[in-house]
Amino acid sequence: MSFDRLAPHYRWMEAILAGGLLQRCRTHWLGETRGARRVLLAGEGNGRMLAACVTALPDAEFVVLDQSEAMLAQARRRWLQAGGPQSVTFQQADLRDWQHSGEKFDLVVTNFFLDCFPPTELGQVVANLSAAAAPSARWLLTDFTLPESGWRRVRARWVLALAYQFFRLATGLAAGRITAPDEALRAQGFVLRERQHFNHGLLQSDLWERGMEAATRRATVESA
Ligand SMILES: C[S@@+](CC[C@H](N)C(=O)[O-])C[C@H]1O[C@@H](n2cnc3c(N)ncnc32)[C@H](O)[C@@H]1O
Repeated sequence: MSFDRLAPHYRWMEAILAGGLLQRCRTHWLGETRGARRVLLAGEGNGRMLAACVTALPDAEFVVLDQSEAMLAQARRRWLQAGGPQSVTFQQADLRDWQHSGEKFDLVVTNFFLDCFPPTELGQVVANLSAAAAPSARWLLTDFTLPESGWRRVRARWVLALAYQFFRLATGLAAGRITAPDEALRAQGFVLRERQHFNHGLLQSDLWERGMEAATRRATVESA
């Protein structure tokens, strides 16, 4: 599986197929992450979220991980254009068997990344990233999703079937359908703090948080 072949085309394809929608989803909760100092962007692709993060989080340092060298090259180029003064480390890695040994991250970011994995791999990827996250880390994530019922679900099924077929052909993606990451995140102690749906429930942007403070805040939201 490799996104190398797709990397040069990823940006213009996104512009034609979705305009600015995906970037709005990626950055929806970014304003809630002020104060983050060590940020891990996993499966970052061509660096659009990184460019937004270096502007929104001027005091943070960043580690950008991706399996695709071509995607990392695009992300590096976009970061240079954004001109942030921060420290950014670019690292090629397969997140399915990645282990982090340095200082923990207080913010993890995954966009359109967890939906690349079949159920058999998703739990391991989330566990590997969680092991690199601080006890009270936050996790920003955007993914495709399947609405509960009705015409929105039927529509999303068609869109996702086409999308997965395309990515399986273009990249050799192992996943053939979406697997919600919620259970895997909860198993690692994360609590959902915010969720916003877009495009009739086809996309969702989440803010998850770990630690006692997160549990208390969620309890307050649910009882309100
Ligand atoms: C669908 S793209 C999403 C890119 C970007 N995050 C975005 O918002 O558009 C998935 C990205 O995850 C990377 N990726 C897929 N499987 C991976 C793995 N096992 N380890 C690390 N990166 C992986 C791909 O190279 C690609 O850049």
